[in-house]
Amino acid sequence: MNILILGSGGREHTFAYKIAQSPKCKKLYVAPGNAGTSAIAENLQVNPIDFAAVANMALEKDIHMIVVGPEDPLVKGIVDYFKKDERLQDIQIIGPSGRGALLEGSKERAKEFMAMYNIPTAAYESFSFESLQAGKKFLETLQPPYVLKADGLAAGKGVLIIDDLEEAKKELENMLSGKFGAASKKVVIEEFLDGIELSVFVLTDGKNYKILPTAKDYKRIGEGDIGLNTGGMGAVSPVPFADKDFMNKIEERIVKPTVNGLQTEEIDYKGFVFIGLIKVDGEPYVIEYNVRMGDPETEVVLPRIKSDLVDLLEKTWTGELDQIELELDKRAASTIVLVSGGYPESYEKGKIIKGLKEIDSSIVFHAGTMNNEEGDIVTSGGRVIALTSFGKDYKEALKKSYQSAEKLQFDKMYFRKDIGFDLS
Ligand SMILES: Nc1ncnc2c1ncn2[C@@H]1O[C@H](COP(=O)(O)OP(=O)(O)O)[C@@H](O)[C@H]1O
Ligand SMILES: [Mg+2]
Repeated sequence: MNILILGSGGREHTFAYKIAQSPKCKKLYVAPGNAGTSAIAENLQVNPIDFAAVANMALEKDIHMIVVGPEDPLVKGIVDYFKKDERLQDIQIIGPSGRGALLEGSKERAKEFMAMYNIPTAAYESFSFESLQAGKKFLETLQPPYVLKADGLAAGKGVLIIDDLEEAKKELENMLSGKFGAASKKVVIEEFLDGIELSVFVLTDGKNYKILPTAKDYKRIGEGDIGLNTGGMGAVSPVPFADKDFMNKIEERIVKPTVNGLQTEEIDYKGFVFIGLIKVDGEPYVIEYNVRMGDPETEVVLPRIKSDLVDLLEKTWTGELDQIELELDKRAASTIVLVSGGYPESYEKGKIIKGLKEIDSSIVFHAGTMNNEEGDIVTSGGRVIALTSFGKDYKEALKKSYQSAEKLQFDKMYFRKDIGFDLS
């Protein structure tokens, strides 16, 4: 079949890499893609949130399956758009409907869903500008630090964790007055949970599910998890502390009630659920849901899946995920992300990336890269390359990724040298 992947980052290159390995994939397209995807698929200059353009392209290229990488098109309702149009109804579009995507698109909705199905999460209340005074009162009942979350999508910038009560009150007011635009018209205030985070990925057809490998990512720019938030600087899979007993708790208390909740509410959900978790005194709590795979977690999760990914996605579409065995690679995988100097603040683009061909013990996933007119591969974003390696454990895998990084160069290249620092 002909398959189209929407998106342009390391996550989408990883999807392309896995899907290209499937004998079921005839022609593979990525829109808009990057220099990495252009080497194994055909890039199409289409913006994933221009649904009409995506639809026209899908018809023109006789696409049978679409994998939606980022959250934006999902939250804006791309799946519903395809379902409504007779000409597009048979295209297997992998991702939740708009109602399903609200689990990521609204933090208030996610908290209400968790409360409804008794899924463990931090205590919370939600406020609007009208209830600002009640919000300030609620803050007074909590212990610091205070967790304030913009309800809507805010590109990873909408969560503030503040030590001082007065400052928290002021920020609540700022948020409700439009600090994050429409995204912070409502603010969820949560109890602070103290623990170690991990992510669990689930593929569901709306009633059956497969639990994919766990991963842990590293979001801050600086070593020791300090400094500004980024899209992600590295990841490891599996997470060493997610043992059998802990995974069992996650499945029984979180995964099953989540899928059951989707079913109870008759939500059309054929896609990935990313469950952000925190382990507190040995017990799992949900921090958030995302309705797609994470980046760079995808770069360590998908390479560890041995089953045919297209097969898995087809069964997701047909509602037959129970009829397929998920085969995993027992090895660990680690990835490190090479970024442009200055990121996540301002940085330069167009730097030539040298040494790509010399890498033989890691998989090179491209993120912000493009081909320039001279035929060089150059940087075109903050996160540039993810280097994924396998090993008997995450440390052995990491070592290979760091060795590979030695062979690569571009002007002002930066990466964290301490991925996994909190795991041993
Ligand atoms: N209740 C909480 N207790 C402690 N830390 C939290 C809590 N909620 C969020 N965080 C921290 O803030 C980060 C971002 O919050 P999250 O809900 O994942 O929002 P987003 O990814 O949309 O920015 C989390 O990864 C976690 O480190
Ligand atoms: Mg998060």
